[in-house]
Amino acid sequence: MLDLLDALRTVVGPEHVVTDPDVVASHTVDWTTRFRGTTPAVVRPAATAEVAAVLRVCDERRTPVVPQGGNTGLVGGSVPLHGEIVLDLRRLDELEPVDSRRGQVTAYAGVTLARLQAHAAAAGWQYGVDLAARDTATVGGMIATNAGGVHVLRYGSTRRQVVGIEAVLADGRVIQRLDGLEKDNTGYDLAGLFCGSEGTLAVITAARLRLVPRPEFVVVALCAFDDIDAALDAVGELRRGLDSAQAIELFFQKGLDLVCDRLGLTRPFARRHSAYVLVEAAANSDPTEVLARSVERLGGVADSAVATDAPTARALWRYREAHTEAINLEGAPHKLDVTLPADHLAEFILEVEDRVATVAPDASVWLFGHAGDGNIHVNVTGVAPDDERVTEVVLRFVASLHGSISAEHGIGAAKRAYVGLVRSSAEIAVYRAIKCALDPYGTLNPHVLLSEAPSTPR
Ligand code: FAD
Ligand code: MLT
Ligand code: ZN
Repeated sequence: MLDLLDALRTVVGPEHVVTDPDVVASHTVDWTTRFRGTTPAVVRPAATAEVAAVLRVCDERRTPVVPQGGNTGLVGGSVPLHGEIVLDLRRLDELEPVDSRRGQVTAYAGVTLARLQAHAAAAGWQYGVDLAARDTATVGGMIATNAGGVHVLRYGSTRRQVVGIEAVLADGRVIQRLDGLEKDNTGYDLAGLFCGSEGTLAVITAARLRLVPRPEFVVVALCAFDDIDAALDAVGELRRGLDSAQAIELFFQKGLDLVCDRLGLTRPFARRHSAYVLVEAAANSDPTEVLARSVERLGGVADSAVATDAPTARALWRYREAHTEAINLEGAPHKLDVTLPADHLAEFILEVEDRVATVAPDASVWLFGHAGDGNIHVNVTGVAPDDERVTEVVLRFVASLHGSISAEHGIGAAKRAYVGLVRSSAEIAVYRAIKCALDPYGTLNPHVLLSEAPSTPR
């Protein structure tokens, strides 16, 4: 091990091979605190060439590595659960000027989403992905997880924003395609493959990202419903009729109570309701009237609030975005992130709590999510971190309804045993063949996504 650390020190400089337990601690536990591990060292390269040299050293010594960005991942994929080296990519933080002719920008892996958003905005553009971990989540982590967030409805998830990529393979070879050609059908789409690969196929060091026009006006409405079916009908109606919609989100009274109680927020309405739909409209001409008319036309709206200025809009968003933080205060949650086909969404929402109760009668279930995409987050608190029964019962229910067991957070360590519920053995064999071709010794995040390491002997 000392020989390995010395070799790594030669590559990145001694101060960037961190072994101080106080510093290492924050790299070995995930955001939820459910997943905890250990590491011999956190290695902090500052350039692509250093990443390549670090991987060469580790691959030659058959030493597994967990790539890490902001460590905001929610499926236990960013922490060294089996004693891996942590490769912290945050020092790769270069952000090139916006290419305004093409609406593109090159960002290095460690750039945070908030910095990328501010950089795009300053040039009159917008980055198509937004999520509440924006101050910490990085470009590399978002590509590695194919992060979704609140604007998928309009702009798609991260994969759709990636025009080109620079990445380092397990043996240190660098693949670079940052020329930003919008049309280029030359062979396999490696950038697309690395999106959502969760650090198992390559370390992403930079990306050429597509930007979208920045709408001048953003208006938010929060609608309350006393009937869950009416809320889901409203989601469908807003998707169909409000072409300026860029987010349609859902939460429930129980989650709203938790957010308000835990974080000291004033409740949005005098009365309690079953379900809440938050809709954000954005356009270059003020969409307030159109949004108000759309809300008036919805059936079953028991109460509503509209925000036309940024601080009020942020206050309405907080009821939805603060669910993650408020739930964490209840203790390490089991976070399940699923998509349901529209015709099974109501059934799932109404029944999932009972399904959880069959294996964890004292647990609390919190539901919220990106309803416009059919994506519901099922969070369960009051269950031991290593108790797998809740995950199994929920994911089996999802699979029986032909949904996805991973809408946007990835498989990570949390769900690797369940991929077979929704992927055939032929598909899993292809996944393994790809992993084996790119990382034959299982150096890159070998304990996430696939349930076993590739068959090549270590
Ligand atoms: P990390 O957590 O560090 O890593 C995540 C995964 O990517 C790991 O498997 C890691 O090994 C790999 N990885 C990291 N960097 C690289 C790299 N450079 N090269 C190769 N692999 C790498 N996610 C959503 O999809 N939608 C949301 O709405 C959303 N909201 C969130 C809100 C909060 C409050 C929090 C805490 C999390 C949220 N997330 C959401 C989850 C998380 O923010 C995303 O998964 C994000 O993409 C992770 O970025 P990161 O830099 O923190 O990556
Ligand atoms: C969200 O939609 O708020 C995020 O995906 C985070 C979470 O699931 O807690
Ligand atoms: Zn989400």
